Amino acid sequence: MRVVVSVGGSVLAPDLDPDRVAAYADAIERLVAADHEVGVVVGGGGVAREYIETARALGANEVELDQFGIGTTRLNARLLIAALGETAAVSPATEYDEAAAGLRRGEVSVMGGMTPGQTTDAVAAAFAESVDADLLVYATSADGVYDADPNADPDATQFAEMSPAELVEVVLPMSRDAGASAPVDLLAAKLIDRAGMRAIVLDGTDPSAVVDAVVSGDHSGTDVIPVGGDERADPVRTEQS
Ligand code: UTP
Repeated sequence: MRVVVSVGGSVLAPDLDPDRVAAYADAIERLVAADHEVGVVVGGGGVAREYIETARALGANEVELDQFGIGTTRLNARLLIAALGETAAVSPATEYDEAAAGLRRGEVSVMGGMTPGQTTDAVAAAFAESVDADLLVYATSADGVYDADPNADPDATQFAEMSPAELVEVVLPMSRDAGASAPVDLLAAKLIDRAGMRAIVLDGTDPSAVVDAVVSGDHSGTDVIPVGGDERADPVRTEQS
């Protein structure tokens, strides 16, 4: 299977711990050993936010701030590449074609951010679409997609399964509300919907959760399944545990 894994910066490098990055590299190597082609997109996490807030205080504009974010995601991508060694392309791809070419050569292609005005969620969706990936996995700090912000609303319920169009519907109001944090950004949801892509949003705190989801389909996050992609077309909601 060809899979793109989006690893949130807060999941990969919350505090620049080499053991944590090595554990993620090990999970990716297990996927490769199981004969999967793997692309990885790495986020910026708290380090990106610190750079952005510092630059904002210095008067940088939004595009300039995004460039700080993109730079940080690429630094984090380099950390993962350092841990992967020869399994990976030597540097983070800065074009989708370059990332796709790496996959064709049998390398793990690692990317960071690409364009101001979006996040790595959207990069992962575009990368996955560009290589016709079978599966897109978002390894985030949230354990799936909820109908409200679970940190703010005790009645928030998790979707066990939903369609890409429903993902767009859920994320749309969250992206308008400055306080709420969407599990994936709106552009990513739209790209997933447009391409009819299969995706999983799961808690990536433990990197082996990604391996289990890809290898055996076992996870406790949210399955995003295009209509017709599974016999169960209706979304199933489970109570928040
Ligand atoms: P992230 O993808 O890590 O954003 O990119 P995020 O959603 O804020 O991070 P998590 O998921 O909570 O850890 C960090 C920042 O880099 C810029 C944006 O400013 C983003 O907030 N960025 C990233 C871009 O401008 N374009 C990209 O393609 C990617």
